[in-house]
Amino acid sequence: MEPGSDFKALLCERLGDPQETMGKPHSALRVARMPVSPLPNSSVRIKVAAAALNFADALQLQGQYQVKPKLPFVPGSECSGTVIEVGRDVRTVKVGDKVCAVTEGGAFGEQAVARENLVVKLPANCDVDAAAGLPIAYGTAYLALRDRADLRPGQTILVLGAAGGVGLAAVQLAKCCGARVVAVARGHSKVTTLREAGADEVINMEHHKPEQLKGLMRHCAPQGVDCVFDPVGGTLLTEALRCCRWGAHVLIIGFASGHIPKVAANVLLVKNLTMHGIFWGSYQQHNPRLFRKSLEEVGRLFGSGELNVNISHRFSLEQAPEAFSIMMNRQVIGKILLLPQPRSML
Ligand SMILES: NC(=O)c1ccc[n+]([C@@H]2O[C@H](COP(=O)([O-])OP(=O)(O)OC[C@H]3O[C@@H](n4cnc5c(N)ncnc54)[C@H](OP(=O)(O)O)[C@@H]3O)[C@@H](O)[C@H]2O)c1
Repeated sequence: MEPGSDFKALLCERLGDPQETMGKPHSALRVARMPVSPLPNSSVRIKVAAAALNFADALQLQGQYQVKPKLPFVPGSECSGTVIEVGRDVRTVKVGDKVCAVTEGGAFGEQAVARENLVVKLPANCDVDAAAGLPIAYGTAYLALRDRADLRPGQTILVLGAAGGVGLAAVQLAKCCGARVVAVARGHSKVTTLREAGADEVINMEHHKPEQLKGLMRHCAPQGVDCVFDPVGGTLLTEALRCCRWGAHVLIIGFASGHIPKVAANVLLVKNLTMHGIFWGSYQQHNPRLFRKSLEEVGRLFGSGELNVNISHRFSLEQAPEAFSIMMNRQVIGKILLLPQPRSML
């Protein structure tokens, strides 16, 4: 398959709400044809089968994320598909390989470019589409649970926002570690998925306030939890700290609630808690070996069937505003995919 001279992609020309219908004066997104750029020596060009949406994409399109690309740009940070071209220095993958990859933008298109060290080769028989949702959520959760909290068999972990992308990854990986998982989410279908994913206890917060968490936890983990995994923030984190046992690890992953809580240092002192701030992407610069290990390990676990990326919704590039709306309105269970190619062409 040749790279061709141009390809279809989702383009952001102005910052704004990605839920806005395309073609309106204030739309953040439109579908455009992009020229194929020369491939750097250490990079790989991928014919994209699927790209996965991340919460960070929505923040970035509104100018609220720490990484702010110059306009116009093609968003998207992870994808899966088939390698169609490799740079001169690339050694670990070849044309025709099925891969998933982290991209530095540009995943929401028919083609994407990724650096070789951000590409993971997939086994021939795996679900290539679903693998698009593997690198970021599972890489983050792997690094947090294995390398920061050192989660052990028999320990109990409380996962907040557990049916979201990174939360569901943490549930599955915690089960791989042999831990007991208490998952927190809102709504019946999320509860069902979490039970299927192996969560030992699921707390449905649909009809409860965050302040009720400790009471709800009393029968799930009477001794308290050894670890908290928190992609939500806000009051839920403050309440989760009250559910910790002595010496617990608290993993700060994100603030999907939109609220960054202030934590009282005396709470950490009294219970000897360790709080970890985790920004997975920054390991690329600060600890590339560990970053690579997290990618390879989740690729291996996915390939062997121990991990399964739950895809709740699939959309075309043209339907991207709808996809963002699902995510921003808390309806996603696991991951949402954008499928840039007509299915018959794959
Ligand atoms: N630190 C890192 O390296 C890293 C890596 C990946 C993601 N993240 C961050 O982690 C967070 C979650 O990412 P994700 O991809 O898992 O997102 P997601 O799939 O949309 O899941 C977020 C979950 O948070 C819960 N939530 C609570 N209040 C919410 C609100 N006001 N709006 C939306 N969701 C809310 C929702 O669960 P319920 O509706 O069930 O309550 C939802 O399932 C984001 O802040 C993201 O930037 C950080």
